[in-house]
Amino acid sequence: MRNQIIVGNWKMNKNNAETKAFFETVDAVATSDKGLYGVGVPFTDLRTALDGAKNLIVAAENCHFEDSGAFTGEVSVPMLVELGVKYCIIGHSERRQMFGDTDETVNKKAKKLLAAGITPILCIGETEEEYDNGKTADVVAAQLKGSLADIPAADYANIVLAYEPIWAIGTGKSASVEIAENCCKLVRDVVCDIAGADAADKVRIQYGGSVKPNNIVEYMAQPDIDGALIGGASLKEDSFIEIIEKTK
Ligand code: PGA
Repeated sequence: MRNQIIVGNWKMNKNNAETKAFFETVDAVATSDKGLYGVGVPFTDLRTALDGAKNLIVAAENCHFEDSGAFTGEVSVPMLVELGVKYCIIGHSERRQMFGDTDETVNKKAKKLLAAGITPILCIGETEEEYDNGKTADVVAAQLKGSLADIPAADYANIVLAYEPIWAIGTGKSASVEIAENCCKLVRDVVCDIAGADAADKVRIQYGGSVKPNNIVEYMAQPDIDGALIGGASLKEDSFIEIIEKTK
């Protein structure tokens, strides 16, 4: 039985004072026998978030795959380890579209994180055009094969995959429960091909894209959806608390 994992993704939002206030309000309610709640926060908020987190897990939103060096503006995995970070979002579609992340760099980041004991939350998902042309399965399979290349089967218990159709991110146009479940099942089948049945059974798969308090429960009821990655609705304390209360 896989534990659920529901994670907010703040993107480039919130300063330290806002982070502190969020954790003061939300952390105490973020407990459940079913699994974990957390938030991905900007690098500059990580220490404040970790200081305020007794229950919530705290994720970075990116990392570099080299330990150190001439990479102006980047943050390495050892730097995250030193802060006590245990989760890191990688390959978000915004990074793939705007900042040049590829399956190859995402794969390097995943390996570096796993070696450091940090759980990658690795995002994949198709564009609207790909979806309209019936290419979802091919695109998602190719992203998974590239991003997960050469990762040992035993590591999959420490990997979270986030299926996020790009047409559903920040659009208010969430994927139907049926599409979300079918695609998360597809992700699990591809993991089974790549790394075997045990890895497929252990890997946790999130759906992301316009998840809100009013639709979280139906997504979480699906057999292959183990959690959610939530942008907009994770920014306001009251809506994230509502999501927590409905999924406890
Ligand atoms: P959204 O973002 O919930 O605002 O659609 C999801 C994400 O980008 O992870």
